[in-house]
Amino acid sequence: MREVKLSIVGFGVVGRGVAEVVARKRAEIGERFGLDLRIVAVVDLWGAALASDADGGGLDPRRILDALQKGGAEGLSPRESLEAHGVRVEELQSPDVIQEVEHDVTVEATPTNVDNDGEPGTSHILTALKAGRHVVTSNKGPLALHFNKLMQAAKRADRKIGFEATVGGAMPIISLRDTLAGNEILCIKGILNGTCNYILTRMGEENMPFEHALREAQEMGIAEADPRSDVLGVDTAVKLVILANALLGLDAAYKDVRVTGITEITPEALSLARDNGYVIKLIGEVDRDGKLEVAPKLVPETHPLNVGGTLNAALLKTDLAGEVMVVGRGAGGIEAASAIISDIIRIFKN
Ligand SMILES: NC(=O)c1ccc[n+]([C@@H]2O[C@H](COP(=O)([O-])OP(=O)(O)OC[C@H]3O[C@@H](n4cnc5c(N)ncnc54)[C@H](OP(=O)(O)O)[C@@H]3O)[C@@H](O)[C@H]2O)c1
Repeated sequence: MREVKLSIVGFGVVGRGVAEVVARKRAEIGERFGLDLRIVAVVDLWGAALASDADGGGLDPRRILDALQKGGAEGLSPRESLEAHGVRVEELQSPDVIQEVEHDVTVEATPTNVDNDGEPGTSHILTALKAGRHVVTSNKGPLALHFNKLMQAAKRADRKIGFEATVGGAMPIISLRDTLAGNEILCIKGILNGTCNYILTRMGEENMPFEHALREAQEMGIAEADPRSDVLGVDTAVKLVILANALLGLDAAYKDVRVTGITEITPEALSLARDNGYVIKLIGEVDRDGKLEVAPKLVPETHPLNVGGTLNAALLKTDLAGEVMVVGRGAGGIEAASAIISDIIRIFKN
């Protein structure tokens, strides 16, 4: 059995999802793949939870998650919650943990930031590679802004960067570059933001105005309190840039994408579309000529890209395999963790 030591940097929805999946699946992954996943450190802005000798080489993810949940319900801070359950918490920051705590894979799950050079994620990834760690990330910012720089840094360090979770959540798409090896991917059209898909689906079904559908999405926890990145098309554009670089081999940047969001779509437009056999979807589209566009598009009701609710979907055109379609859940802690765990297993099985 090969021991694989993980650190989790950023312990929010995705970081906790990874801990939950390790808690549920460690034994199964050990049996199926011969990999013993051990979380040796969890670091967030409140400090770092570190495994001690008494933990037998790894933190107990179930104990950490329960402690945070119970402590949170009692109004304790994360640090107080963990300490109350006997977890060792140190005053360390992320770069210290990445460099100083011995581990094999840094799971980077801090907030996406495309306005600030992708920080803190960009520095976390570069620091991890320099320290000889593999990196698996759900953070879109660093990949969208510095794709080639990060890939070169990984190559120099002879380490891997897994980033399946950055696009489409649980929907496998980045890994298609391996699955479809030998094919040329000619173009990709996709629904890459579940919030927009939900809003447009509800507007169409219920003849609802945009603001009403957005409020409903926020109340259900589907949309962020600040939904601008989603509804203005920024999130879709960022993911499109990652696909352009990773799957089409372009040297694309965020500034190259023509972006139109969904804020101007009216129930009347959706109703007119429906009367003519169409739906309106926010589509991200990239081709080999360098077309990079995010915009609301008419999609025939019978087209495979007409998926509803919060689903993501992508249609790839290839030279050998023809059209290939993937659909899946684009967001959620467990969904993103599914992609992260697959990346980790792939790194060690290849
Ligand atoms: N949630 C999803 O469904 C999903 C799916 C795919 C990809 N993603 C991406 O995955 C990443 C994480 O998403 P999330 O939903 O887990 O976000 P989240 O719930 O906000 O968690 C991020 C955590 O990182 C912490 N953090 C901020 N700066 C840090 C630093 N320098 N060092 C360590 N921790 C730091 C945050 O603390 P504060 O809250 O105190 O700032 C927060 O606890 C994002 O980049 C997101 O775009 C999310």
